[in-house]
Amino acid sequence: MALKISYNFENIKGAANALKSGKLVAFPTETVYGLGSDATNSSAVARVYAVKGRPLGHPVIVHISSLSMVEFWAKAIPDYALKLAKLFWPGPMTLVLQRQHLAKNFITGGQDNIALRVPSHPIAIELLLEFEKQGGLGVAAPSANRFGKVSPTTASAVGIELDNYLEDSDIIIDGGLSQIGVESTIIDCTSATPFILRPGGITVDMIENTLDINFDNISTPSNRIKVPGMLASHYSPTAKVFLSGTPSPGDGLIAMATTPTPQGVIRLASPKDNSEFAHLLYESLRSADRQGLKKVFVVKPDNQGIGMAINDRLTKAESE
Ligand code: TXA
Ligand code: MG
Repeated sequence: MALKISYNFENIKGAANALKSGKLVAFPTETVYGLGSDATNSSAVARVYAVKGRPLGHPVIVHISSLSMVEFWAKAIPDYALKLAKLFWPGPMTLVLQRQHLAKNFITGGQDNIALRVPSHPIAIELLLEFEKQGGLGVAAPSANRFGKVSPTTASAVGIELDNYLEDSDIIIDGGLSQIGVESTIIDCTSATPFILRPGGITVDMIENTLDINFDNISTPSNRIKVPGMLASHYSPTAKVFLSGTPSPGDGLIAMATTPTPQGVIRLASPKDNSEFAHLLYESLRSADRQGLKKVFVVKPDNQGIGMAINDRLTKAESE
């Protein structure tokens, strides 16, 4: 059972100190909640894997407070990556770069690259700054869910998911509902051209416009990174997710507000646009589980903006 704290300066200082002494701190980010540990502490990171039930060999994202911390973790950063970082950090974007010595195998899954992100949530930034003030260099943080499950977007979801596995001296910081609601865009920046490994809040259009490129004209790098985390099945609630077919009375439904609710069907969310869809998606899937629903039908949004990320996660949630 972890200690649950709300936001205030003393609490954040205490949480940073807990990280420094090898404890785990679950914290809010604008995408989803992360389960943080000192990225230089192998036993703290090993506990993150144990608490998540995550197989070893899955690399974790290291969170830093600003671009100036990148040099500790990465080298040979291409110009295009720097451009993306300057424009979209802090924000929902993770860059995969060539690693520095500091990024050990227990962080990178034995690969020669490292995933870095500067989150924009004010509590996350303050925690990272305070951690760095205490001598820390980065916080390794996967999403704060059990392996293969839905990422949490509230502190209470983290508690329900992980409390049985956390210790009394671990901490969960409450920062309300995550604003974006799906995980960051991951971009492989280890080749001459970028490659999107996971779609997210920073969209294909945003990247193409920034770099004046067209992904349709870029071939997949031959040495494209393969990570075990990109499994076909992931992000799954206990309820079975259906992306086609018609819900029956007692089934759950997530769809845009314009889609009516058939008689007896339990409406879990009615977002008005793709951003709100992302914001509400994981919490609605969790609410299906809380209500003990067996089936959830989801009418997929279009691929505009964050729609691509939503549909990527939904396809994985549906897959078994
Ligand atoms: O929005 C997010 O990215 C959230 C918040 C907490 O920052 N984090 C998150 O972490 O989603 P996680 O571990 O649940 O998903 C990270 C994904 C995994 O699929 C992992 O395999 C991949 O990123 N990844 C991590 N390091 C990598 C690396 N060096 N190269 C390629 N992929 C990597
Ligand atoms: Mg995850």
